[in-house]
Amino acid sequence: MDHFTYHGGVLCAEGVKLPELAAQVGTPFYCYSTATLERHYRVFDEAFAGIPHKICYAVKSNPNLAVIATLAGCGAGADVVSEGEIRRALAAGVAPGDIVFSGVGKTRDEMAYALAQKIFQFNVESLPELEALNEVAGSLGTTAPIAVRVNPDVDAGTHAKISTGSKHNKFGIDITEAREVYARAAKMPHITVQGVSMHIGSQLTQLAPFERAFTRLVEFVATLRADGHRITTLDVGGGLGIPYGRETPPTPLDYAEVVKKVTKGVDCTLVFEPGRMIVGNAGILVTRVIYVKENAGRRFAIVDAAMNDLMRPAMYDAYHEIVTVQESTKAAAVRYDIVGPVCESSDIFAEQRELPELKAGDLIAFRTAGAYGAAMSSMYNSRLLIPEVMVRDNVFAICRPRTSYEAMLAAENLPEWQ
Ligand code: LLP
Repeated sequence: MDHFTYHGGVLCAEGVKLPELAAQVGTPFYCYSTATLERHYRVFDEAFAGIPHKICYAVKSNPNLAVIATLAGCGAGADVVSEGEIRRALAAGVAPGDIVFSGVGKTRDEMAYALAQKIFQFNVESLPELEALNEVAGSLGTTAPIAVRVNPDVDAGTHAKISTGSKHNKFGIDITEAREVYARAAKMPHITVQGVSMHIGSQLTQLAPFERAFTRLVEFVATLRADGHRITTLDVGGGLGIPYGRETPPTPLDYAEVVKKVTKGVDCTLVFEPGRMIVGNAGILVTRVIYVKENAGRRFAIVDAAMNDLMRPAMYDAYHEIVTVQESTKAAAVRYDIVGPVCESSDIFAEQRELPELKAGDLIAFRTAGAYGAAMSSMYNSRLLIPEVMVRDNVFAICRPRTSYEAMLAAENLPEWQ
């Protein structure tokens, strides 16, 4: 459920009319809804009421400070994958003790920074990383709290590019080899073993892969305890899917039921790293039609957003629902290819999508663009990064303004010989 609905014939974000927003900030722009963010967080949190748990929002899905701050205000921690994300989480008000640090390639500098902040947990993904962390912590006279990210070898049944839990993926340590890594960790003077972690992929629309993976994880906890390790946290990652089109992913309650069933009696604080589930439906991308053109019998609507602003369709053939900002009384009657201005044939948002008739100047919106939208944007084709706007009831704030051409040029220097 989200708070982007039609009122008085126009699409609104909560109480703000999108055409008015477009007039003030220009197009294209991302728009986020506070009420939607808070609702999604609450629904997820309440699904685990009564069970010791920490929800560490996956900052990579939308690192906008206002988004993180909204969630931090609800009690969220953060799952981060770089020093930049740690800095964002802290700047947005997340307590260091609620930060988990994931990722296969943490550098020593990043480790040192995270240790200085006293974060909650490092999710270690390899033996070389563990050795480096032990050294860095030793050089700072401290110890690093860790979980090993195990790879449970479960097919997440999701898009190959966002699946992480199979043997051949670069992520985590094979569950059959992880026991040895724990044994090594226990002997390291600057490492404190505290948990086990996993994340098998993103946009999962079935519960079965979760259940298989959680079951392996819980069995593994028993093995580790028998080996004498003190395991107090169980980080099950993120990955719960959301409806972009016709999918019917499990609800947080369904997901929680499986988690509770499988982890019953495990006596750990559960850690969750949801991203998309929290922020996906809380954001839309609003764009304006520049031209409508016909080519060899195909009708193209060329819009002012492009693949550099929303990469998911070009990269994963992802589906995003497209709606007109003016509520249409007529049925969707015309098939359009919705494309951006970037000089790549993959700069296509949708092919042969049925929409009400469009004309130059019309506003349309891509729904469910809050996760991995702005987060993955770039300045390809020297296009400016677009604004991100946060709405709360009937007020809005531009929380990331459009970059300027002056700033774009000022960010670079010519070599002195030029
Ligand atoms: N934890 C870890 C260690 C992760 O790698 C991820 C996502 C998450 C949590 C959050 O997963 P979520 O709850 O959002 O599914 N760019 C792709 C998605 C990449 C996901 C990367 N990892 C997309 O646009 O679909």
